[in-house]
Amino acid sequence: MAFKIGLLGLGTVGTGTAQIILDPAGRNPLLQDITIHKVGVRSLDKPRQVQFLPGIMTTDLEAVVNDPDIDIVVELLGGLEPARSLILQAISQKKHVVTANKAVIARYGDEIYEAANQAGVYVLLEAAVGGGIPIIKPLKQSLGANRITSIIGIINGTTNYILTQMTTEGADFGEVLAEAQKLGYAEADPTADVDGLDAADKIAILASLGFGGRVKREDVYCEGIRKVSAADITYADRLGFVIKLLAIAKGTGGEASDRLQLRVHPTLVSKTHPLASINGVYNAVLVEGNPLGQVMFYGPGAGAGPTASAVVSDIMNIVAILQSSGPNNGLDPLLSCVHQHFCQITPIEQIETRFYARFLTKDLPGVIGHLGTAFGDHQVSLESVVQIGFQGEQAEIVVVTHNVCEGNFRTALDEIRNLEAIADIPSILRVL
Ligand code: HSE
Repeated sequence: MAFKIGLLGLGTVGTGTAQIILDPAGRNPLLQDITIHKVGVRSLDKPRQVQFLPGIMTTDLEAVVNDPDIDIVVELLGGLEPARSLILQAISQKKHVVTANKAVIARYGDEIYEAANQAGVYVLLEAAVGGGIPIIKPLKQSLGANRITSIIGIINGTTNYILTQMTTEGADFGEVLAEAQKLGYAEADPTADVDGLDAADKIAILASLGFGGRVKREDVYCEGIRKVSAADITYADRLGFVIKLLAIAKGTGGEASDRLQLRVHPTLVSKTHPLASINGVYNAVLVEGNPLGQVMFYGPGAGAGPTASAVVSDIMNIVAILQSSGPNNGLDPLLSCVHQHFCQITPIEQIETRFYARFLTKDLPGVIGHLGTAFGDHQVSLESVVQIGFQGEQAEIVVVTHNVCEGNFRTALDEIRNLEAIADIPSILRVL
């Protein structure tokens, strides 16, 4: 039985997807049952790496999602609109959807899954998080017997590349970003990556799957890497840490009513932690659950081939289900979205974490004492205080705290900012 695909978008991932489907030899035999029926693109004039018979490519994207012959719409346009509307339109036409669009799913997953469940179709998104790393299906299926306690990921390759280069070259953020843009590793507009928004979209999706509830994208606390300096990377190194942009979803592994921590921020990670050695554009996701313990998924988080590998695996999954059980047997609950409630999120002020803070101070007697007193007055217990050197006339003091309530830490900092001896607090980072 042959299944017809409507492909929306023929950019990097769309091209990679078409190349796999058009070259099935040596891959799973299911691929031989899949044909590309229509390809919706914005322009017919662009040079393409894959060629289709006349009539397959069209600029009429709605004609693709409305085509009665198409079984599965593969949305690889990116961006919010028209992607969201086309996905909803495809669902209303009872077509299954495969998408790599984390921005749409993180913001409109609720609307899209309600519609998909009503229409009895699948919306699969393995390619939306971690590129070629299988992480969505493992969370839905392979790890389903566990109570998940945390999902911690390096899930943005651009920022991991930048931080890795800053670490190995001792260079500052701006320099490395410019170089990464020249090499094509960072977008001309790097906002979504460097400000942590892309990672926030992805952790919202992973949290929803791991913790079995819907997540509001705006509930993800998000800080990017623009303020990370070469000085912090050096101090972190001396203290036994590397700095990584982590996306963190943490529960307590208990009941569905538990509150979740959901946050993306640059983080000091001990050099002995498994995530510390994930470098360059690679991604990794560390999942912890009960009774599983820890499992780490590692691999290429972007790129044509790896992302297309994930897209095509979703297409094959749907085709396998349609072939084995027919279209009218109800949705497989391990592959569809069955959550009805939204997860409760812990406000950032209430989370408990360790902090690293760097202070520039006058080199006066008693400064470290004043710092210690201000922290102590707000129940912020210090793990270490070091005066590493000077910047001009000013002493540079680095503090690492024990696990403390973020609200207390911030209140202490407000007080410290007003101390006469404190010239500046150039960086505040969390420690894993
Ligand atoms: N821009 C993303 C990254 C890749 O840098 O990881 C696509 O999700």
